[in-house]
Amino acid sequence: MELIQELEKIYQQAFTSIPKAQTENELDNLKNAFIGKKSSLSNITKKLGSLNVEEKKLVGQKVNEISRSIEELVYTTREKLQNAEIEQQISTEIFDILRPLPSKRRGTLHPITRIQMEVEDIFVSMGFQVMDGPEIETDYNNFQALNFSDDHPARDMQDTFYTDDGNLLRTHTSAIQVRALKVLTPPFKIIAPGRVFRYEEVDASHENTFNQVEGMVVGQDISIAHLIYTMEELLNQIFGKKMTVRLRPGYFPFVEPGFELDFQCLVCGGKGCSVCKHSGWVELLPCGLIHPNVLKFSGLDPSVWTGFAFGLGLDRLVMMRYGINDIRYFNSSNLRFLNQFQG
Ligand code: PHE
Repeated sequence: MELIQELEKIYQQAFTSIPKAQTENELDNLKNAFIGKKSSLSNITKKLGSLNVEEKKLVGQKVNEISRSIEELVYTTREKLQNAEIEQQISTEIFDILRPLPSKRRGTLHPITRIQMEVEDIFVSMGFQVMDGPEIETDYNNFQALNFSDDHPARDMQDTFYTDDGNLLRTHTSAIQVRALKVLTPPFKIIAPGRVFRYEEVDASHENTFNQVEGMVVGQDISIAHLIYTMEELLNQIFGKKMTVRLRPGYFPFVEPGFELDFQCLVCGGKGCSVCKHSGWVELLPCGLIHPNVLKFSGLDPSVWTGFAFGLGLDRLVMMRYGINDIRYFNSSNLRFLNQFQG
């Protein structure tokens, strides 16, 4: 039959010309010429209507077979072309695996991450475990179990963002204290670093998103002396010298007694300067002994168990260590700022 012969011819032409394609572009053109919408093959398909049933079947099958094998040939030819191109690149390009990446393209650790890692190392060396918790918390973990009743005035200081289902963006890492009490059996020592959120007016020293490291020790006969020693040890290591600290009374519903721990200003050595607002002391860290109600909430007997807790503000610490004067740099994604923390 004439059509079948025509098909054979197309097939042969395709098989001689397609493998000779030199570029993918050329290959695409050939593909279109043989099996595209306006190809010789589709012309034959258009003629199928005028054939009788037997012929239609025969020619139809042949058309399918041919177009499938042309597809395959195009596919393998394309692979060959692409491999050849890679080979060509490999043989001509010099690739020196020892050459350092261009420094501009290298990422750096965020200064907060850096100090967080250091703080973790220091506490781990003192036998603490590192815990984590979610950024979206329940009201119970963030407030109620920490002795903030529904109408407690201390909630006002920690306004935050609420989700439709009544959960909230945690205002402090203290929520992880509640989680720790739930899953660990005392005695235990944990720290819990994390991002926290408050509904704040943003300025050079206030952010709505900042970072804390919570600490919690639960055991027997834990005293303020343990708390002070641990804090001094942390500061000595972070600043690489012997630090002087003092405690002032501070109020948090979940500690009793509660304190603000200050350290002597490093800039003026305690004489008074603009950094320490002429007081000689820099406020760093709220802390205290765990309130008996917090222990009770978690089913521990406060006549048996005691402990201390602290909430280290990481942003402040990083600002002190590197002399950064605006907290807004931290979340700014400003590369000129971030690139200073290389190596
Ligand atoms: N969570 C408190 C805050 O963010 C700080 C704190 C932690 C106070 C642990 C005492 C003990 O304000």
